[in-house]
Amino acid sequence: MHHLPIAPKLQDNIEYRHHQSGHRMDDHPNIYDEPSFFEGYSRLPRSLDGLEGAPEWPVLRDMLPDMQGLRVVDLGCGWGWFCRWARENGAAHVHGIDLSSRMLAHACANTSDPTIVYELGSLEHLTLPAGSFDLAYSSLAFHYISDAARLYAEIARCLRPGGHLVFSTEHPVYMAAARPGWVTSESGEKVWPVDSYFAEGPRRTDWITKDVLKYHRTIGTTLNLLIRSGFRIEQVEEFCPTAEQISARPALADELQRPTFLLVAALRA
Ligand SMILES: C[S@@+](CC[C@H](N)C(=O)[O-])C[C@H]1O[C@@H](n2cnc3c(N)ncnc32)[C@H](O)[C@@H]1O
Repeated sequence: MHHLPIAPKLQDNIEYRHHQSGHRMDDHPNIYDEPSFFEGYSRLPRSLDGLEGAPEWPVLRDMLPDMQGLRVVDLGCGWGWFCRWARENGAAHVHGIDLSSRMLAHACANTSDPTIVYELGSLEHLTLPAGSFDLAYSSLAFHYISDAARLYAEIARCLRPGGHLVFSTEHPVYMAAARPGWVTSESGEKVWPVDSYFAEGPRRTDWITKDVLKYHRTIGTTLNLLIRSGFRIEQVEEFCPTAEQISARPALADELQRPTFLLVAALRA
């Protein structure tokens, strides 16, 4: 087992825990800790502007329960934007978990709320106390996880009965292709070919840097794994930009051609 570099404890009122819940650090190296990837990621609107810079956020926000008094875990919390939003909107306590010490160092540096705790750990080996959370939230981290069945089962275990799971992940239509990317049709239209849809498993794609490792699963697999883990699916959305979003950011018009994000809200039965 190798250990990732641990960022220093940056603020006295942040409990910066390593390996606290038995999370192993022997995953594949996390791309978010590579300096060139981290630097590129840091320039994205969703990094610079936080939740408001993420075009799917208004839809995801509307899928969330009332945050008042909730015990929240944010899985793959990154820079901690959602952790802080949850507290500002009434959550009692927020536990952010991420595999990247660089991402967490940034989160710590921007958080002064003692009820937000950040933890360095991998979702591949997530272990949390049973029934200890009311809401498990995750934004765009689950497509990095190879064993979704284990992950969903552990989330179900750590939620109280009736607890909420709300997450976004890359859409399988966006991820499936062996070499994803736009092509121009004979009639000059921009199209996103989908192949290998039913070949689930690893995908290596170029995003910010070369060979970023992700895991493709069909929509059926994702929803059925959730159901088998004891979740009742409440809402499923495929992000599609609004006319207002496109007029503010014209590049978003491409997102009308195919879904990039799958958003799910479920209840632990
Ligand atoms: C696209 S970023 C999203 C960050 C944040 N949730 C947001 O929406 O701003 C994906 C995050 O997942 C984290 N991540 C990737 N693999 C992980 C793993 N195995 N365990 C925990 N976090 C992981 C990355 O370090 C990164 O912070």
